[in-house]
Amino acid sequence: MTHLSLINMSKFLLIKKKISVFNKRISVSGDKSLSIRWVLLASQAVGKSKCHNLLMSEDVIAALESIRKLGIKVKLQNNYCEIYGNGINGFKYKKNLIINAKNSGTLGRLILGLLIKSPHKIKIIGDKSLSKRDFSRITVPLKKFGANFFYHKKKNKLPLSILGSKFLKDINYLENKGSAQCKSCIMLAALNTSGTTSIKAVKSRNHSELIFRYLKIPIKIKKTEKYDLIRIKPPKKIKPFNYRIPGDISSSAFFMVLTILTQNSKLLIKDVNINPSRTGVIKILKKMGAKISFKNQRKYKGEKISDIFIKSSKNLKAINCPSKLNSSAIDEFLIIFLVAARAKGISYFKNISELNQKESPRLIWGSKILNMMGIKTVLTNDSIKIYGQPNLVINKTITIKNYLKDHRIFMMSTIAGLTNNGIFKIYDKDSINSSFPSFLKIIKKIDNKII
Ligand code: S3P
Repeated sequence: MTHLSLINMSKFLLIKKKISVFNKRISVSGDKSLSIRWVLLASQAVGKSKCHNLLMSEDVIAALESIRKLGIKVKLQNNYCEIYGNGINGFKYKKNLIINAKNSGTLGRLILGLLIKSPHKIKIIGDKSLSKRDFSRITVPLKKFGANFFYHKKKNKLPLSILGSKFLKDINYLENKGSAQCKSCIMLAALNTSGTTSIKAVKSRNHSELIFRYLKIPIKIKKTEKYDLIRIKPPKKIKPFNYRIPGDISSSAFFMVLTILTQNSKLLIKDVNINPSRTGVIKILKKMGAKISFKNQRKYKGEKISDIFIKSSKNLKAINCPSKLNSSAIDEFLIIFLVAARAKGISYFKNISELNQKESPRLIWGSKILNMMGIKTVLTNDSIKIYGQPNLVINKTITIKNYLKDHRIFMMSTIAGLTNNGIFKIYDKDSINSSFPSFLKIIKKIDNKII
Protein backbone atom coordinates (compact mmCIF):
# COMPACT_ATOMS: atom_id res chain seq x y z
CA MET A 1 0.00 0.00 0.00
CA THR A 2 2.62 2.49 1.08
CA HIS A 3 4.66 1.63 -1.95
CA LEU A 4 1.68 2.15 -4.26
CA SER A 5 0.78 5.51 -2.79
CA LEU A 6 4.40 6.56 -3.18
CA ILE A 7 4.27 5.72 -6.86
CA ASN A 8 1.10 7.71 -7.23
CA MET A 9 2.54 10.64 -5.32
CA SER A 10 5.47 10.88 -7.68
CA LYS A 11 3.17 11.23 -10.68
CA PHE A 12 2.03 14.72 -9.82
CA LEU A 13 3.44 17.89 -8.41
CA LEU A 14 1.55 19.51 -5.57
CA ILE A 15 2.02 23.24 -5.06
CA LYS A 16 0.38 24.56 -1.91
CA LYS A 17 1.63 28.10 -1.72
CA LYS A 18 3.39 30.89 -3.57
CA ILE A 19 7.16 30.95 -3.88
CA SER A 20 8.91 33.32 -1.41
CA VAL A 21 10.70 36.52 -2.40
CA PHE A 22 14.02 35.75 -4.14
CA ASN A 23 17.16 37.35 -5.53
CA LYS A 24 19.08 34.67 -7.42
CA ARG A 25 21.31 33.80 -10.33
CA ILE A 26 20.60 30.68 -12.38
CA SER A 27 21.56 28.96 -15.64
CA VAL A 28 19.12 27.04 -17.77
CA SER A 29 20.05 24.06 -19.94
CA GLY A 30 21.14 24.22 -23.58
CA ASP A 31 18.87 25.41 -26.36
CA LYS A 32 16.74 22.60 -27.82
CA SER A 33 16.58 23.91 -31.40
CA LEU A 34 20.35 24.39 -31.55
CA SER A 35 21.07 21.03 -29.89
CA ILE A 36 18.98 19.09 -32.42
CA ARG A 37 20.41 21.07 -35.35
CA TRP A 38 23.98 20.46 -34.15
CA VAL A 39 23.33 16.70 -33.91
CA LEU A 40 21.79 16.47 -37.39
CA LEU A 41 24.34 18.68 -39.13
CA ALA A 42 27.32 17.09 -37.37
CA SER A 43 26.06 13.76 -38.75
CA GLN A 44 26.44 15.20 -42.27
CA ALA A 45 29.97 16.58 -41.74
CA VAL A 46 33.05 14.56 -42.55
CA GLY A 47 34.86 13.69 -39.30
CA LYS A 48 34.63 14.48 -35.61
CA SER A 49 32.48 17.37 -34.34
CA LYS A 50 32.42 18.27 -30.65
CA CYS A 51 29.72 19.91 -28.61
CA HIS A 52 29.61 21.27 -25.07
CA ASN A 53 26.45 21.94 -23.10
CA LEU A 54 24.26 19.84 -25.38
CA LEU A 55 20.72 19.74 -23.97
CA MET A 56 20.36 16.39 -22.21
CA SER A 57 16.66 15.95 -22.77
CA GLU A 58 14.63 13.14 -24.33
CA ASP A 59 14.17 15.04 -27.61
CA VAL A 60 17.92 15.45 -28.08
CA ILE A 61 18.75 11.91 -26.92
CA ALA A 62 16.20 10.71 -29.49
CA ALA A 63 18.12 12.68 -32.15
CA LEU A 64 21.39 11.01 -31.09
CA GLU A 65 19.73 7.58 -31.10
CA SER A 66 18.34 8.24 -34.57
CA ILE A 67 21.69 9.07 -36.17
CA ARG A 68 23.27 6.12 -34.33
CA LYS A 69 20.72 3.84 -35.97
CA LEU A 70 21.74 5.36 -39.28
CA GLY A 71 25.33 4.25 -38.71
CA ILE A 72 26.84 7.40 -37.19
CA LYS A 73 29.24 7.02 -34.25
CA VAL A 74 28.28 9.09 -31.22
CA LYS A 75 30.15 9.52 -27.94
CA LEU A 76 28.31 11.16 -25.09
CA GLN A 77 29.51 12.04 -21.63
CA ASN A 78 27.18 14.15 -19.52
CA ASN A 79 26.41 17.08 -21.78
CA TYR A 80 29.60 16.80 -23.85
CA CYS A 81 29.16 15.00 -27.15
CA GLU A 82 31.27 13.90 -30.09
CA ILE A 83 29.76 12.91 -33.43
CA TYR A 84 31.77 11.22 -36.17
CA GLY A 85 29.95 12.38 -39.29
CA ASN A 86 30.03 10.40 -42.48
CA GLY A 87 29.35 13.17 -44.99
CA ILE A 88 26.21 14.30 -46.78
CA ASN A 89 23.92 11.30 -47.31
CA GLY A 90 26.57 9.21 -45.54
CA PHE A 91 24.01 7.31 -43.50
CA LYS A 92 24.11 3.51 -43.52
CA TYR A 93 20.64 2.60 -44.64
CA LYS A 94 19.60 -0.81 -43.34
CA LYS A 95 16.36 -2.54 -44.23
CA ASN A 96 13.44 -2.26 -41.80
CA LEU A 97 14.92 0.66 -39.89
CA ILE A 98 12.67 2.37 -37.37
CA ILE A 99 13.49 5.87 -36.13
CA ASN A 100 11.71 6.97 -32.96
CA ALA A 101 11.26 10.74 -32.79
CA LYS A 102 9.42 10.33 -29.46
CA ASN A 103 7.87 13.70 -28.52
CA SER A 104 9.92 15.84 -30.89
CA GLY A 105 8.31 17.56 -33.88
CA THR A 106 11.66 19.17 -34.63
CA LEU A 107 13.45 15.82 -34.84
CA GLY A 108 10.63 14.04 -36.69
CA ARG A 109 10.39 16.75 -39.31
CA LEU A 110 14.04 17.75 -39.74
CA ILE A 111 15.39 14.22 -40.02
CA LEU A 112 13.01 13.43 -42.88
CA GLY A 113 14.82 16.11 -44.87
CA LEU A 114 18.02 14.10 -44.50
CA LEU A 115 16.40 10.83 -45.62
CA ILE A 116 15.18 11.78 -49.09
CA LYS A 117 17.80 9.58 -50.75
CA SER A 118 17.18 6.51 -48.63
CA PRO A 119 17.21 3.39 -50.84
CA HIS A 120 15.00 1.51 -48.36
CA LYS A 121 11.84 2.43 -46.57
CA ILE A 122 12.54 3.97 -43.17
CA LYS A 123 9.73 4.08 -40.65
CA ILE A 124 9.38 7.11 -38.38
CA ILE A 125 7.38 6.69 -35.22
CA GLY A 126 6.61 9.01 -32.32
CA ASP A 127 4.75 9.16 -29.03
CA LYS A 128 1.01 9.76 -28.66
CA SER A 129 1.38 13.53 -28.92
CA LEU A 130 3.65 13.50 -31.98
CA SER A 131 1.40 10.93 -33.67
CA LYS A 132 -1.44 13.46 -33.60
CA ARG A 133 0.61 16.17 -35.36
CA ASP A 134 0.49 17.06 -39.03
CA PHE A 135 3.28 15.81 -41.27
CA SER A 136 1.77 16.84 -44.61
CA ARG A 137 3.45 20.21 -44.06
CA ILE A 138 6.75 18.53 -44.85
CA THR A 139 5.77 15.47 -46.88
CA VAL A 140 4.18 17.71 -49.56
CA PRO A 141 7.42 19.60 -50.34
CA LEU A 142 9.61 16.52 -49.83
CA LYS A 143 7.49 14.69 -52.44
CA LYS A 144 8.30 17.50 -54.86
CA PHE A 145 11.99 16.63 -54.42
CA GLY A 146 11.08 13.03 -55.35
CA ALA A 147 10.67 11.30 -51.98
CA ASN A 148 7.81 8.83 -51.41
CA PHE A 149 5.69 8.43 -48.28
CA PHE A 150 3.59 5.59 -46.87
CA TYR A 151 1.25 5.97 -43.92
CA HIS A 152 0.72 3.13 -41.45
CA LYS A 153 -2.36 4.37 -39.58
CA LYS A 154 -3.67 7.77 -40.59
CA LYS A 155 -2.85 9.87 -43.63
CA ASN A 156 -0.33 12.66 -42.96
CA LYS A 157 0.42 11.39 -39.45
CA LEU A 158 3.06 9.22 -37.83
CA PRO A 159 3.84 6.40 -38.07
CA LEU A 160 4.93 6.92 -41.66
CA SER A 161 7.65 5.49 -43.89
CA ILE A 162 9.83 7.40 -46.28
CA LEU A 163 11.41 5.90 -49.38
CA GLY A 164 13.92 8.18 -50.99
CA SER A 165 14.87 8.64 -54.60
CA LYS A 166 18.18 8.64 -56.48
CA PHE A 167 16.89 11.27 -58.86
CA LEU A 168 16.06 14.34 -56.84
CA LYS A 169 14.68 17.52 -58.32
CA ASP A 170 15.42 21.05 -57.16
CA ILE A 171 12.35 22.74 -55.82
CA ASN A 172 10.81 26.13 -55.12
CA TYR A 173 9.08 26.02 -51.78
CA LEU A 174 6.71 28.48 -50.15
CA GLU A 175 6.63 28.23 -46.36
CA ASN A 176 3.70 30.35 -45.24
CA LYS A 177 3.08 29.23 -41.66
CA GLY A 178 6.15 30.81 -40.10
CA SER A 179 7.38 27.31 -39.24
CA ALA A 180 11.13 26.94 -38.74
CA GLN A 181 10.70 23.19 -38.66
CA CYS A 182 9.31 23.16 -42.20
CA LYS A 183 11.92 25.63 -43.45
CA SER A 184 14.77 23.68 -41.84
CA CYS A 185 13.52 20.33 -43.13
CA ILE A 186 13.69 21.68 -46.68
CA MET A 187 17.07 23.29 -46.06
CA LEU A 188 18.47 19.92 -44.94
CA ALA A 189 16.88 18.18 -47.91
CA ALA A 190 18.55 20.76 -50.19
CA LEU A 191 21.96 19.37 -49.15
CA ASN A 192 21.14 16.17 -51.07
CA THR A 193 20.24 17.79 -54.38
CA SER A 194 22.50 18.75 -57.25
CA GLY A 195 21.09 22.21 -58.05
CA THR A 196 19.60 25.16 -56.22
CA THR A 197 16.69 24.96 -53.78
CA SER A 198 14.67 28.17 -53.40
CA ILE A 199 12.64 28.81 -50.28
CA LYS A 200 10.29 31.73 -49.70
CA ALA A 201 9.55 31.61 -46.00
CA VAL A 202 7.52 33.70 -43.57
CA LYS A 203 10.03 34.80 -40.94
CA SER A 204 10.76 32.24 -38.24
CA ARG A 205 13.73 31.25 -36.06
CA ASN A 206 16.84 31.35 -38.21
CA HIS A 207 19.27 29.01 -36.43
CA SER A 208 19.58 26.74 -39.46
CA GLU A 209 20.50 29.68 -41.70
CA LEU A 210 23.14 30.87 -39.21
CA ILE A 211 24.70 27.42 -38.90
CA PHE A 212 24.66 26.93 -42.69
CA ARG A 213 26.53 30.24 -43.01
CA TYR A 214 28.99 29.30 -40.31
CA LEU A 215 29.60 25.97 -42.07
CA LYS A 216 30.12 27.77 -45.38
CA ILE A 217 27.25 25.92 -47.02
CA PRO A 218 26.36 28.10 -50.04
CA ILE A 219 23.30 30.03 -48.87
CA LYS A 220 21.92 33.36 -50.03
CA ILE A 221 19.23 35.18 -48.08
CA LYS A 222 17.24 38.17 -49.25
CA LYS A 223 14.99 39.74 -46.63
CA THR A 224 11.69 41.39 -47.42
CA GLU A 225 9.22 42.76 -44.87
CA LYS A 226 7.33 39.47 -44.48
CA TYR A 227 9.42 36.80 -46.16
CA ASP A 228 12.98 35.56 -46.27
CA LEU A 229 14.03 34.41 -49.74
CA ILE A 230 16.58 31.66 -49.28
CA ARG A 231 18.64 29.95 -51.97
CA ILE A 232 20.79 26.95 -51.13
CA LYS A 233 23.30 25.03 -53.19
CA PRO A 234 24.68 21.75 -51.91
CA PRO A 235 28.28 22.01 -50.69
CA LYS A 236 30.88 19.47 -51.79
CA LYS A 237 31.34 18.57 -48.15
CA ILE A 238 30.69 19.90 -44.66
CA LYS A 239 33.63 20.32 -42.32
CA PRO A 240 33.22 19.02 -38.76
CA PHE A 241 32.33 21.76 -36.32
CA ASN A 242 32.57 22.43 -32.63
CA TYR A 243 29.85 24.21 -30.73
CA ARG A 244 28.93 25.30 -27.21
CA ILE A 245 25.15 25.42 -26.95
CA PRO A 246 23.90 28.56 -25.16
CA GLY A 247 20.97 28.52 -22.71
CA ASP A 248 17.46 28.12 -24.09
CA ILE A 249 15.34 31.30 -24.07
CA SER A 250 12.19 29.15 -24.13
CA SER A 251 13.25 27.49 -20.87
CA SER A 252 14.33 30.88 -19.44
CA ALA A 253 10.89 32.33 -20.17
CA PHE A 254 9.29 30.31 -17.36
CA PHE A 255 11.71 31.87 -14.87
CA MET A 256 11.26 35.34 -16.33
CA VAL A 257 7.55 35.10 -15.63
CA LEU A 258 8.12 33.53 -12.19
CA THR A 259 10.14 36.65 -11.32
CA ILE A 260 7.77 39.15 -12.91
CA LEU A 261 4.86 37.74 -10.91
CA THR A 262 6.68 37.37 -7.55
CA GLN A 263 6.80 40.60 -5.53
CA ASN A 264 10.17 42.23 -4.78
CA SER A 265 12.19 39.57 -6.58
CA LYS A 266 15.16 39.63 -8.94
CA LEU A 267 16.76 37.03 -11.15
CA LEU A 268 19.81 36.84 -13.39
CA ILE A 269 19.77 34.08 -16.02
CA LYS A 270 23.26 33.42 -17.37
CA ASP A 271 24.31 32.80 -20.99
CA VAL A 272 21.02 32.68 -22.86
CA ASN A 273 20.64 32.64 -26.63
CA ILE A 274 18.95 35.93 -27.54
CA ASN A 275 18.78 35.45 -31.30
CA PRO A 276 16.26 38.19 -32.34
CA SER A 277 14.13 35.53 -34.05
CA ARG A 278 13.53 34.07 -30.56
CA THR A 279 13.11 37.14 -28.36
CA GLY A 280 9.43 37.82 -29.06
CA VAL A 281 8.68 36.83 -25.47
CA ILE A 282 10.89 39.62 -24.11
CA LYS A 283 9.43 42.20 -26.51
CA ILE A 284 5.88 41.20 -25.54
CA LEU A 285 6.54 41.09 -21.80
CA LYS A 286 8.27 44.48 -21.90
CA LYS A 287 5.28 45.99 -23.72
CA MET A 288 3.19 44.64 -20.82
CA GLY A 289 5.37 46.46 -18.29
CA ALA A 290 7.95 43.81 -17.40
CA LYS A 291 11.43 44.89 -16.32
CA ILE A 292 13.88 42.84 -18.36
CA SER A 293 17.36 43.84 -19.49
CA PHE A 294 20.34 42.25 -21.21
CA LYS A 295 23.77 42.22 -19.59
CA ASN A 296 27.07 41.15 -21.09
CA GLN A 297 25.85 40.69 -24.67
CA ARG A 298 28.14 38.92 -27.08
CA LYS A 299 28.17 37.09 -30.42
CA TYR A 300 28.88 33.43 -30.86
CA LYS A 301 29.13 31.73 -34.27
CA GLY A 302 26.42 33.98 -35.68
CA GLU A 303 24.15 33.70 -32.61
CA LYS A 304 23.68 36.36 -29.93
CA ILE A 305 24.16 35.46 -26.28
CA SER A 306 23.46 37.45 -23.14
CA ASP A 307 22.69 37.27 -19.45
CA ILE A 308 19.10 38.29 -18.79
CA PHE A 309 18.18 40.33 -15.73
CA ILE A 310 14.55 40.37 -14.57
CA LYS A 311 12.82 42.27 -11.77
CA SER A 312 9.28 41.77 -10.54
CA SER A 313 6.69 44.18 -11.91
CA LYS A 314 3.80 45.77 -10.05
CA ASN A 315 1.92 47.47 -12.86
CA LEU A 316 1.37 45.00 -15.64
CA LYS A 317 -0.84 46.15 -18.48
CA ALA A 318 -2.79 44.26 -21.11
CA ILE A 319 -1.48 43.95 -24.66
CA ASN A 320 -2.96 43.83 -28.12
CA CYS A 321 -0.16 41.62 -29.31
CA PRO A 322 1.19 42.50 -32.78
CA SER A 323 1.00 39.39 -35.01
CA LYS A 324 4.44 40.11 -36.37
CA LEU A 325 5.84 38.93 -33.02
CA ASN A 326 4.01 35.59 -33.14
CA SER A 327 6.63 33.36 -34.67
CA SER A 328 9.43 34.72 -32.46
CA ALA A 329 7.36 33.90 -29.36
CA ILE A 330 5.62 30.76 -30.59
CA ASP A 331 6.79 28.50 -27.74
CA GLU A 332 6.22 31.14 -25.07
CA PHE A 333 2.55 32.07 -25.49
CA LEU A 334 1.39 29.81 -22.67
CA ILE A 335 3.62 31.54 -20.18
CA ILE A 336 2.77 34.98 -21.63
CA PHE A 337 -0.94 34.15 -21.07
CA LEU A 338 -0.19 33.86 -17.34
CA VAL A 339 1.10 37.42 -17.32
CA ALA A 340 -1.96 38.58 -19.27
CA ALA A 341 -4.11 36.90 -16.59
CA ARG A 342 -2.56 39.24 -13.99
CA ALA A 343 -2.36 42.38 -16.13
CA LYS A 344 -4.79 45.28 -16.00
CA GLY A 345 -7.19 45.16 -18.96
CA ILE A 346 -8.08 42.76 -21.73
CA SER A 347 -5.19 41.26 -23.68
CA TYR A 348 -5.67 40.07 -27.24
CA PHE A 349 -3.50 37.56 -29.09
CA LYS A 350 -4.47 36.85 -32.70
CA ASN A 351 -3.40 34.72 -35.68
CA ILE A 352 -2.02 32.04 -33.38
CA SER A 353 -3.76 28.94 -34.73
CA GLU A 354 -0.27 27.34 -34.97
CA LEU A 355 -0.40 27.02 -31.18
CA ASN A 356 -2.94 24.25 -31.59
CA GLN A 357 -0.43 22.33 -33.76
CA LYS A 358 2.08 21.89 -30.93
CA GLU A 359 2.71 19.01 -28.49
CA SER A 360 -0.88 19.59 -27.33
CA PRO A 361 -3.51 22.02 -28.63
CA ARG A 362 -1.94 24.79 -26.56
CA LEU A 363 -4.34 27.58 -27.39
CA ILE A 364 -7.19 25.46 -26.07
CA TRP A 365 -5.23 24.25 -23.06
CA GLY A 366 -3.91 27.70 -22.18
CA SER A 367 -7.46 29.02 -22.14
CA LYS A 368 -8.71 26.03 -20.13
CA ILE A 369 -6.09 26.53 -17.41
CA LEU A 370 -6.83 30.25 -17.15
CA ASN A 371 -10.54 29.45 -16.83
CA MET A 372 -9.80 26.96 -14.05
CA MET A 373 -7.97 29.80 -12.28
CA GLY A 374 -11.07 32.01 -12.56
CA ILE A 375 -9.87 34.12 -15.50
CA LYS A 376 -12.36 34.88 -18.25
CA THR A 377 -11.23 34.21 -21.82
CA VAL A 378 -12.81 34.45 -25.25
CA LEU A 379 -11.35 31.79 -27.47
CA THR A 380 -11.56 31.25 -31.23
CA ASN A 381 -9.55 28.79 -33.29
CA ASP A 382 -6.84 31.37 -33.89
CA SER A 383 -7.12 33.97 -31.13
CA ILE A 384 -7.71 34.53 -27.45
CA LYS A 385 -8.86 37.47 -25.35
CA ILE A 386 -7.76 37.32 -21.74
CA TYR A 387 -9.54 39.39 -19.11
CA GLY A 388 -6.75 40.18 -16.65
CA GLN A 389 -7.22 40.34 -12.88
CA PRO A 390 -4.29 42.09 -11.15
CA ASN A 391 -5.70 41.12 -7.75
CA LEU A 392 -6.62 37.55 -8.63
CA VAL A 393 -7.35 35.32 -5.62
CA ILE A 394 -7.67 31.57 -6.08
CA ASN A 395 -9.03 29.59 -3.14
CA LYS A 396 -9.55 26.11 -4.51
CA THR A 397 -7.60 23.13 -5.81
CA ILE A 398 -6.82 23.16 -9.50
CA THR A 399 -6.02 19.79 -11.08
CA ILE A 400 -4.23 19.64 -14.40
CA LYS A 401 -4.10 16.29 -16.18
CA ASN A 402 -4.66 14.58 -19.56
CA TYR A 403 -2.83 17.29 -21.46
CA LEU A 404 -0.92 14.86 -23.71
CA LYS A 405 2.08 15.27 -21.39
CA ASP A 406 2.95 18.58 -23.03
CA HIS A 407 6.10 19.77 -21.22
CA ARG A 408 5.21 23.43 -21.63
CA ILE A 409 1.69 22.93 -20.19
CA PHE A 410 3.30 21.32 -17.14
CA MET A 411 5.79 24.16 -16.70
CA MET A 412 3.21 26.89 -17.28
CA SER A 413 0.95 25.26 -14.67
CA THR A 414 3.84 25.04 -12.21
CA ILE A 415 4.59 28.75 -12.60
CA ALA A 416 0.86 29.47 -12.20
CA GLY A 417 0.91 27.51 -8.94
CA LEU A 418 4.02 29.27 -7.65
CA THR A 419 2.68 32.76 -8.32
CA ASN A 420 -0.95 32.41 -7.19
CA ASN A 421 -2.81 31.25 -4.11
CA GLY A 422 -4.83 28.07 -4.25
CA ILE A 423 -3.51 24.55 -4.57
CA PHE A 424 -2.21 23.25 -7.88
CA LYS A 425 -2.07 19.51 -8.51
CA ILE A 426 -0.24 18.93 -11.78
CA TYR A 427 0.06 15.46 -13.29
CA ASP A 428 2.73 13.98 -15.56
CA LYS A 429 5.78 15.53 -13.98
CA ASP A 430 7.99 13.49 -16.30
CA SER A 431 6.82 15.56 -19.28
CA ILE A 432 9.62 18.05 -18.52
CA ASN A 433 12.14 15.44 -19.67
CA SER A 434 11.45 16.21 -23.31
CA SER A 435 12.86 19.76 -23.13
CA PHE A 436 13.96 20.78 -19.65
CA PRO A 437 14.69 17.94 -17.21
CA SER A 438 16.27 20.30 -14.63
CA PHE A 439 13.21 22.60 -14.45
CA LEU A 440 12.10 21.50 -10.97
CA LYS A 441 15.69 21.40 -9.65
CA ILE A 442 16.11 25.04 -10.62
CA ILE A 443 12.89 25.95 -8.82
CA LYS A 444 14.29 24.20 -5.73
CA LYS A 445 17.48 26.21 -6.13
CA ILE A 446 15.41 29.41 -6.04
CA ASP A 447 13.34 28.25 -3.02
CA ASN A 448 14.40 24.96 -1.51
CA LYS A 449 11.26 24.45 0.57
CA ILE A 450 8.61 25.13 -2.05
CA ILE A 451 8.28 21.77 -3.83
C1 S3P B 1 11.28 24.68 -33.61
C2 S3P B 1 10.34 25.41 -34.26
C3 S3P B 1 9.00 25.70 -33.71
C4 S3P B 1 8.93 25.44 -32.22
C5 S3P B 1 9.60 24.17 -31.83
C6 S3P B 1 11.06 24.16 -32.25
C7 S3P B 1 12.58 24.44 -34.26
O1 S3P B 1 8.05 24.88 -34.35
O2 S3P B 1 7.59 25.43 -31.79
O3 S3P B 1 9.54 24.01 -30.41
O4 S3P B 1 13.54 24.03 -33.59
O5 S3P B 1 12.67 24.66 -35.48
P1 S3P B 1 7.40 25.31 -35.77
O6 S3P B 1 8.53 25.48 -36.67
O7 S3P B 1 6.50 24.21 -36.17
O8 S3P B 1 6.66 26.58 -35.48
